[in-house]
Amino acid sequence: MTPTAAQPSSPLPIMKTVGDLRAQVAAWRRDGLTVALVPTMGALHDGHLGLVRRARDLADRVVATIFVNPTQFAPHEDFDRYPRDEAGDATKLAGAGCHALYAPDVRAMYPQGFATAISVGGPAEGLCGTFRPQMFGGVALVVTKLFLQALPDVAVFGEKDYQQLMVIRRFTRDLDIPVRVEGLPTVREADGLAMSSRNAYLSADERSRAPELYRALTAAAEALARGGEADGALTAIRSRIAEAGFGSIDYVELRDAETLEPVTAALRPARLLAAAWMGKARLIDNVGVPPSL
Ligand code: PAJ
Repeated sequence: MTPTAAQPSSPLPIMKTVGDLRAQVAAWRRDGLTVALVPTMGALHDGHLGLVRRARDLADRVVATIFVNPTQFAPHEDFDRYPRDEAGDATKLAGAGCHALYAPDVRAMYPQGFATAISVGGPAEGLCGTFRPQMFGGVALVVTKLFLQALPDVAVFGEKDYQQLMVIRRFTRDLDIPVRVEGLPTVREADGLAMSSRNAYLSADERSRAPELYRALTAAAEALARGGEADGALTAIRSRIAEAGFGSIDYVELRDAETLEPVTAALRPARLLAAAWMGKARLIDNVGVPPSL
């Protein structure tokens, strides 16, 4: 039975079990085709579809995954209200040239008795790792499972979640998982706001204020690249976004672009990263800072 048979009305094959996924990938392999994986939690926007388009450039066949992963959410977080629209997502994926969708349910990924965790350090420390302590362990667990289930040649992730990308690169290397990890620059709305499924939580007024996060980061990155001092740049970001109506600011930091270690000046390529609350939405963003001198 082909995976399409279960969903005759779907615009692309949807696989629900690891068995179906492996059968599809094995069929492609028999034809000598390479495979790219694009893991997501659904509620897809143009940022996600940018990953699919990039994946198409990197491999012959592209599998997207949709799985709202419970192990990366804390009990008080938005797992239950996270937006879900599998049918709409399947249409968007087909339009972007994706070849198949893997959308397992929670019991298929974490069967009764599941008892394994992955502990991540290094780039997982600080930043979102401090404010969402369970997140990167949960991401590492689900991404490792997806990698081992699909065994793709390459997987594509967004720089929008820069710390997550660095964590994934680290554990993939540390665990000798034979998958190439590629990053895609953040896809933005016309006014600069990073596209995010969580932007759906913003009211019209909040939405109009939200791009100030990116503007503040960009202005500070320019100041740093001209030799400006880090403390002043970080303070400028904080006051600018507070003035724009951001409530609680989780962090605004300058880090080494590769190791994510804290730095006080951009002597090597660095990254400015921030997370702050606009209403009910926790928005994150980051920009590159070229070395000054
Ligand atoms: P999700 O938030 O759905 O994001 C899926 C992928 O899309 C991630 O690699 C993310 O960085 C990328 N992405 C999101 N918005 C983007 C944008 N505006 N521009 C470019 N890329 C963007 O991140 C996750 O899901 C999960 O943690 C996951 C890795 C799937 C593990 O559960």
